[in-house]
Amino acid sequence: MSAVAEFDLVIHSGTVATASDVFVADIGIRDGQIAQIGRGLEGGRERVDALGKYVLPGGIDSHVHLAQPSGDGIVMTDGFESGTRSALFGGNTCVLPFCLQAKGQTLREALKGYHALAEGNCYTDISFHLIVSDPTEAVLGQELPALVADGYTSFKVFMTYEGLRLNDAEILATMDTARRTGALVMVHCENEDAIRYLIGRHEAQGDVAPRAHATTRPIAVEREATHRALSLAEIVDVPVVIVHVSNGPAIDEIRAARARGRKVVGETCPQYLMLTADDLDGMDWEGAKFVCSPPPRDAASQDACWRGLENGTFDLFSSDHCPFRYDDPAGKRNAKGRTSFRHIPNGIPGVETRLPILFSEGVMTGRIDLRRFVALSSTNHARLYGLESKGSIAVGLDADIAIWDPKIRRTIRHADLHDGADYSPYEGIEVQGWPTDVVLGGAVMVRDGELVGARGEGRYRPRALSSLTRLGM
Ligand code: URP
Ligand code: ZN
Ligand code: ZN
Ligand code: ZN
Repeated sequence: MSAVAEFDLVIHSGTVATASDVFVADIGIRDGQIAQIGRGLEGGRERVDALGKYVLPGGIDSHVHLAQPSGDGIVMTDGFESGTRSALFGGNTCVLPFCLQAKGQTLREALKGYHALAEGNCYTDISFHLIVSDPTEAVLGQELPALVADGYTSFKVFMTYEGLRLNDAEILATMDTARRTGALVMVHCENEDAIRYLIGRHEAQGDVAPRAHATTRPIAVEREATHRALSLAEIVDVPVVIVHVSNGPAIDEIRAARARGRKVVGETCPQYLMLTADDLDGMDWEGAKFVCSPPPRDAASQDACWRGLENGTFDLFSSDHCPFRYDDPAGKRNAKGRTSFRHIPNGIPGVETRLPILFSEGVMTGRIDLRRFVALSSTNHARLYGLESKGSIAVGLDADIAIWDPKIRRTIRHADLHDGADYSPYEGIEVQGWPTDVVLGGAVMVRDGELVGARGEGRYRPRALSSLTRLGM
């Protein structure tokens, strides 16, 4: 009888980092899980050498949009195949896209469509948040509780976007369902009525270029909605996630709520560190490439977001990947014949560049250490969204691992990325550090920067309740 290899894969001699520790070790992987961590592990059928590299839990991006229709009938340019491939190359092993409920549709119907698109097409694991756009009694009373029990344990609600926004009564009712079921509510905080008022004023003055996207969604629009969302969550007595926070005054609202003893999670994204409203200017409608909501702001807001990442106000750093093509008949450049910024689809790509940007601008500059990088990029996402077998490197957890070479210097070029868009908002930015190898459930998916894993290795993962809504964990 031939000897049976003890491990399917051994990752050798890397500098392993978790949210709490950094140490040099070999990692032995068997049956998709981390089986042993130690020195001198041999006997792997396959091996990856990680000497001089960082061995980190695979990134978890808990805020991405894939295959989602936007208003005006424009569909995002990434579905599950290109979106998860791009995520994988950016050091991620799991992403959480949204399942958007259309008005009049049940969430089960909506989920069926997204699952059908995802099945067999993913390069990373996935799980779904539910966007509640039609909170009927049946949805809140029966459907959502059953879906939470089935592993869809988070909902997103919007305070902006015609057709999607909920009023305060609807938000309260949805939060109440979260309170009863233990689901975690995420809120997009911008005041739609204020935005509409400002859009009317801008259009009346013929101010219709992309820059007006930022001036019609000023900080006060986000700050007011953030305050309201936090107050509604306090009234219902539920934890809440404030997603894609862009500025200091909104951060102050989060800190004030925490000081009152509220359980509040803050999320920010690369666009609020790297871009400003000035990027929305530009020849030939070029500013449309940077249209996302909330909009990128200014240097002071960037500093405030960095401080929030450094001092623990933010628990989550996500991409809000929401890709549209620019130069396409139905793309950002041409939407409705460029008659108004109002028609530019909202959202920018970034699932592949999220972690290289945080690594380079955060870890390599000394703003955050490697442990905080791991917490912000993976561990906190796993704990807050109930992915119990993910987010760290420990015996028994999923062998989802990204190996980073801190010596690699790269200039971000869309031509080198793997998403379905035709531009990157971060084109030309130089970064240091990039993931070279990515392991998903013990399968080497990317080796030395080359795709070696198969589409379909990524699987759908139902989730447990959040660590925030569950007692004793
Ligand atoms: O502009 C953005 N962020 N589009 C994506 C949808 C959302 O609000 O997260
Ligand atoms: Zn060895
Ligand atoms: Zn949003
Ligand atoms: Zn989003």
